[in-house]
Amino acid sequence: MTVLVTGVAGFIGSAVARLLLTRDEEIVGLDNLNDYYDPSLKRARIERLTTEFGQRFRFAVADFADPAALGEALAACEIERIVHLGAQAGVRYSLSNPAAYVQSNLVGHSNIVELARARDIKHLVYASSSSVYGNNSQLPFRVEDRTDHPLSLYAATKKCNELISESYANLYRIPTTGLRFFTVYGPWGRPDMAMWIFTEALLSGKPIPFFNGGRMRRDFTFVDDAAGAVVSSLDSPPADDRSVKAGGSVGPHALYNIGNNRSEALGRVIEILEEATGKRALLEPRPMQAGDVPETFADIGAAERDLGFRPATSIEVGIPRFVDWYRDYHGLA
Ligand SMILES: NC(=O)c1ccc[n+]([C@@H]2O[C@H](COP(=O)([O-])OP(=O)(O)OC[C@H]3O[C@@H](n4cnc5c(N)ncnc54)[C@H](O)[C@@H]3O)[C@@H](O)[C@H]2O)c1
Repeated sequence: MTVLVTGVAGFIGSAVARLLLTRDEEIVGLDNLNDYYDPSLKRARIERLTTEFGQRFRFAVADFADPAALGEALAACEIERIVHLGAQAGVRYSLSNPAAYVQSNLVGHSNIVELARARDIKHLVYASSSSVYGNNSQLPFRVEDRTDHPLSLYAATKKCNELISESYANLYRIPTTGLRFFTVYGPWGRPDMAMWIFTEALLSGKPIPFFNGGRMRRDFTFVDDAAGAVVSSLDSPPADDRSVKAGGSVGPHALYNIGNNRSEALGRVIEILEEATGKRALLEPRPMQAGDVPETFADIGAAERDLGFRPATSIEVGIPRFVDWYRDYHGLA
């Protein structure tokens, strides 16, 4: 039976679709190919899946915030499970274009849970974010921690996704899993994220924006580890047995942190990038950005216990793999 992957032209969605296709699943992928970042990168990700997997991968351009378009795109498909990774991503852009977040993340997520209800879906896995933890000072972040002080509209929409999912899991007993991703990076990554911006700056001799005097720390997750976690979670729907799930639900709804369980200093990331590119960084000090948090750090105990999640890629290994891909993709020596 087919798995619907939304946001399949995106960074994580394309990696998840690829992993599912390599184990012989049938995929229908949806994406509206919007221009938040260069759509040619999104098309290249789709092209790669189509070339490698042919008929088993069907792709439709559709906006899941438009229920009629969503229904039309899936009219001829029998879907059994949904991996919902499409969203308006990015913290900073939510300050300048809030409407995009309301449409894709609030209206869009509501349409996806409605689809799950109407199609009697066996398991809905969706993307949340480490940003739901806001400025929590107790580290590492645990799935049971409070998440009701979001620092950006992006974070607020992700928290809403968790609440909407909780209500549907309870009302309609839809097995549902929310994954709070922590800074995913790696080949086929996103041009709006620090890893790409820093690499681009290093390779073109431009200054790197160095926020908050470098006093920023992130838990970085390599994309293959993140995609593996999505697939493991898809294979482990939460039981509808009224037991308390990770994150505290007594419905069939679990929440997991997907991170590396390591908080890395930004300075260390720049050092590894310098080694991988063979260039010295020019640092341009900038103040802390609105909506940003100084540190993220994932407690992944619940995902280890329930999903067998074991992130395998350190930044010392993952960052050079990103730089190799970046050079190759841009035809740089
Ligand atoms: N990459 C990370 O570090 C990270 C961290 C935390 C959470 N997340 C979440 O993981 C998910 C995937 O993120 P990503 O990094 O792959 O982002 P991405 O922007 O590369 O992928 C999202 C995809 O969704 C598509 N999309 C957006 N709105 C749509 C709509 N209304 N209809 C159809 N398609 C639509 C976009 O065109 C894009 O291809 C998102 O929900 C994001 O918020 C990502």
